[in-house]
Amino acid sequence: MHLNRFLSVLFLTLVVFRCSNPNVFIEETALIPIPQSIEIKDSYFKINSNTGVRYDNSIFKISGPFLKTFIKEGSGIDLMEGNDVVFYNKPQLAHEAYELDIAPSKISISASSDQGAFYAIQTLRQILPVALENGTYGKTELFLKCQTIADAPQFEYRGMHLDVGRHMYSVDFIKKYIDALALLKMNTFHWHLTEDQGWRIEIKKYPKLQEVAAYRKETLVGHYNDQPHQFDGESYGGFYTQEQIKDIVAYAQERFVTIIPEIEMPGHSQAAIAAYPQLGCTGNNVEVATKWGVFEEIYCPKESTFQFLEDVIDEVVALFPGKYIHIGGDEAPKTRWKNCSHCQQLIKEKDLKDEHGLQSYFIARMERYINSKGKQIIGWDEILEGGLAPNATVMSWRGTEGAVAAARQHHNVVMTPTSHCYFDYYQSENDEEPLAIGGFLPLEKVYQFNPIPEELTEGERKYVLGAQGNVWTEYMPTESQVEYMAFPRMLAMSEVLWLDADQKNYKDFVKRLELFHKRLEALDFNYANHLYEIDGDMKIENGEAFYELKTQTDGKSIRYTLDGSEPNPNSVLYSGPIPITKNAVVKAAVFKDGEQHGRVFSQRINFHKAVGASISIDKKPHKAYQGSGAQGLINGISGSDKRFGDKEWLGFWGEDIVITMDFEEGKSINTITTRFHNGNGQWIYAPKEVSYEFLLEDGSYVSDKRNLGPFDKTHVKLDYDFNTPKTMDIKVKSIILKIPNYGMIPEGKQGAGNKAWTFIDEIIVN
Ligand code: ACM
Ligand code: ZN
Repeated sequence: MHLNRFLSVLFLTLVVFRCSNPNVFIEETALIPIPQSIEIKDSYFKINSNTGVRYDNSIFKISGPFLKTFIKEGSGIDLMEGNDVVFYNKPQLAHEAYELDIAPSKISISASSDQGAFYAIQTLRQILPVALENGTYGKTELFLKCQTIADAPQFEYRGMHLDVGRHMYSVDFIKKYIDALALLKMNTFHWHLTEDQGWRIEIKKYPKLQEVAAYRKETLVGHYNDQPHQFDGESYGGFYTQEQIKDIVAYAQERFVTIIPEIEMPGHSQAAIAAYPQLGCTGNNVEVATKWGVFEEIYCPKESTFQFLEDVIDEVVALFPGKYIHIGGDEAPKTRWKNCSHCQQLIKEKDLKDEHGLQSYFIARMERYINSKGKQIIGWDEILEGGLAPNATVMSWRGTEGAVAAARQHHNVVMTPTSHCYFDYYQSENDEEPLAIGGFLPLEKVYQFNPIPEELTEGERKYVLGAQGNVWTEYMPTESQVEYMAFPRMLAMSEVLWLDADQKNYKDFVKRLELFHKRLEALDFNYANHLYEIDGDMKIENGEAFYELKTQTDGKSIRYTLDGSEPNPNSVLYSGPIPITKNAVVKAAVFKDGEQHGRVFSQRINFHKAVGASISIDKKPHKAYQGSGAQGLINGISGSDKRFGDKEWLGFWGEDIVITMDFEEGKSINTITTRFHNGNGQWIYAPKEVSYEFLLEDGSYVSDKRNLGPFDKTHVKLDYDFNTPKTMDIKVKSIILKIPNYGMIPEGKQGAGNKAWTFIDEIIVN
């Protein structure tokens, strides 16, 4: 069934040049996600004003007209009725599957549903010239290369999320986002509609949600970690009217995209509490949040609160025809509940264990209500704490542990771990990237994502419905910025979800993506292009250091300098790993035909005394943050200031670690310097202290300890001066660093009660 795609892709290139008829021009295009099976033929099909199309309007009522409209608006060619392009109902195919056969005299589209045929049309669309996307084709004939495609998705849930609480976007933009999902054969749009910073869905019964909760008086400027906080002083907000929502829902339905509305509870509800203070525990006035993070104001589980939420759900259910309502459930600090006599009384009355039990009670009660409306709930993985509501689907974001726990309880899960699915993280190591929340999630890491956690047994895997990319928008004030962060990572996610895992090939994806850029341009998406960036890697072999440069596309060269000067078309051509024996600044760029593509890569190498030493850590870094491994801590390269997730930072979750560095020959050592990331919003805490042991050449040990701090910055630096009199000529054979984890995240902080992360950077020894 799975034919050889790589030969096909190669062959595809040949077809373009082989057609000897000068009037036949077949544009080279790319398919994303690539079909499960393609067989390319050496001939073509022509579409012109004589071409006829036939479909049963009772089955193919969306896909048929979509094709006609796409060709008409794209090229001006009006397909008439006829038997050149024919839709077939083939009941033996799975619901979303299709077959597409382009033969010299006929195009056959087979599916068992309109949705399957719609995906065949999206494939056909991606085979057609990109100019059809914006109506600039301007010729009266279209040529398609002949091919046979058989296709079906691997996962049934293929989604993208968008947070409109932190920033809000136009109705047209929401439609454009849905258009992109459809083009990529994704079928779910998770619309995050309520937040501390803004309530965005009109609820007619509660006008203050529109008047108060939809607006904040100002917005944080710059990054949350930049202290002191500064604000822009400008009111911000708005909401989607029910009429607009109906319009968007209908638009999505015509593209086989189901919208899952998210109404957050019990946390992330400060905007609603600002509008109706009695929804909270204290009844005190609060304002719609003006900065990011997690807030203590959460819904108080009073009868009147449930009445409010049920009324809200009534209006939501009437607007969204899909089967799921997302009830949030994440990041709900329990401080208010702990200090509330009503909440404490309820815990006793219902015989609940604690506040987590109360959250469980809250969610289970809302689930009963939502189930009674014929809908199912989906919630972030915190809904596992204190016991899962009986029919809930879990959205696993804090790693994959939640997914494993839910699947073992035979609950469905949707995967969206931060490590591979958070498209608000940086996607490039280049320092010119626009401000983002932090973290590092390059395209390739998204592409390599396997939604099935490896801990699951064969029998448990079926509970993994699929995955989605999340677009949290604290740092995306504009539509264009959302596009920059979502594209092309959304494209990689679409292929992760569509294609069988053993068929994925990143190099092949990159080739297609380079071509697909033209389609994104025609569709006016402000995609990020990092394909011409350079990836540098330090390699240590037998104690010697080499610096390796790579770029993602073929057919281009890398040129570099080591003295900090800008690379140009005459700089040294990179032909293999560069030996490094002293401090250097590597600057490099990608060139083709004497022209630079993309930005200049720059990396400072600090050739300190531990580079080339051997190193071990008593714990493995977390699998999502293992960077370049232990050796990466002494490879001469420091991690980024902004992205704790790049390959020079190692992350450990809740573990004390011991790092041992051994030198072949004793070294006289003066200083040890390293950094710990301290991004409390991302649950990352610098340790409070570090202890040392030094094994000296004469076999004796010296030990010492340093307290760290202050802790008000993004990085906490450890500067250790090995305070020996220089005259003593002490030689160190081994350095052992003992780094205790910070411990549990304290109350009032984001992720309170969870284990803190430790992130450590290069250990510079001099
Ligand atoms: C989340 O990122 N708080 C689900
Ligand atoms: Zn309360």
